Amino acid sequence: MTHTKVWNVDKNVDKLANHPQLVEAAKLLLEDKVVAFPTETVYGLGANAFSTEAVEKVFKAKGRPSDNPLIIHIAEFETLENVASEITDSAKKLTKAFWPGPLTVVLPKKGPLSPLVTAGLETVGIRMPDHPVALELIRLVGKPLAAPSANRSGKPSPTQGHHVLEDLEGRIAGLVDAGPTGVGVESTVVDCTTTPVTLLRPGGVTLEQLRAVLGDVSVDPALVKDDVTPKSPGLKYKHYSPNAPVLLVQSTDVLQKEIQAAQAAGKRVGVLTTDEHLDMFKSADQVISCGTRSDLTTVAQTIYGALRQFDELNVDLILSETFPTEGIGGAIMNRLTKAAGGNILSAQK
Ligand code: TXA
Ligand code: MG
Repeated sequence: MTHTKVWNVDKNVDKLANHPQLVEAAKLLLEDKVVAFPTETVYGLGANAFSTEAVEKVFKAKGRPSDNPLIIHIAEFETLENVASEITDSAKKLTKAFWPGPLTVVLPKKGPLSPLVTAGLETVGIRMPDHPVALELIRLVGKPLAAPSANRSGKPSPTQGHHVLEDLEGRIAGLVDAGPTGVGVESTVVDCTTTPVTLLRPGGVTLEQLRAVLGDVSVDPALVKDDVTPKSPGLKYKHYSPNAPVLLVQSTDVLQKEIQAAQAAGKRVGVLTTDEHLDMFKSADQVISCGTRSDLTTVAQTIYGALRQFDELNVDLILSETFPTEGIGGAIMNRLTKAAGGNILSAQK
């Protein structure tokens, strides 16, 4: 493939309507090409959701298994009725409360969606991103955009334009670069076909926020199981991963000892920490802070970028702090646990 065309768009300009660069990007999408674009969570890899030819290219560019469905992105509330056959009461309440925003509702599908989008399921995941560039691009295309995160499958999701190019340069037609995304972790995915609704993936909207709107919300048992295993072997949940293996360590004391042990074994050690603890890990070969523990939204914003940075620093092992699972911490720990393939050293070691 030829070079990926990059358009730099300032998301703060007053007039994004019919922005010439977005018009160009929309034209490529209407030709069934794939174009990466910013959302408030992470960059997405967009394709016309009604075109199987276009959606095929998304799976190919990402190297994504075809049994993993894509989220479709819409710009108007009314479009929901064209892609979902039933809008449950819970979906009505949640979309009213959180759209546009980092929430994906799973509903029975409807209309001419490519069967590849839903990976053969009878349901479809839908969201309205809270990003002026994404909304205008979808409006210009005039069709919903199927868009997974714009990373190669298994890698941390991209929160900046250059992350997209690192993974996909030459593999996709275009990238609309509007600077860093805001939330930093993906949308919360909620199955609205069950009663009560089921949280499938924690994300930018917290479980507490969902419960404040709906009362009862159940949590997919797979999420809980993953989390309680103190030190699970194997890489079967590996995802969001940098090149070096990641080990989560619950206490700073144990983390300091693990640095020594790994270095004694000849390894170059990277530590993923927070501003509060930066001084504790000076003996490590590389130390990166992903924000402040006093405000976990800063950690969500920078966690993927920090994991990606370790790929350039040539480390053999990444030791990471853990976080409380309340609020946005739920999404952070879900992603870190997957990046670590479930490997956690508990505080009691
Ligand atoms: O924030 C986000 O959601 C980003 C931005 C680009 O919008 N997108 C994103 O897409 O994270 P992706 O493909 O990386 O993750 C989609 C998640 C997957 O875990 C997928 O299995 C789930 O949503 N999903 C999609 N459709 C589903 C369905 N019908 N039923 C259950 N899960 C579904
Ligand atoms: Mg993804």
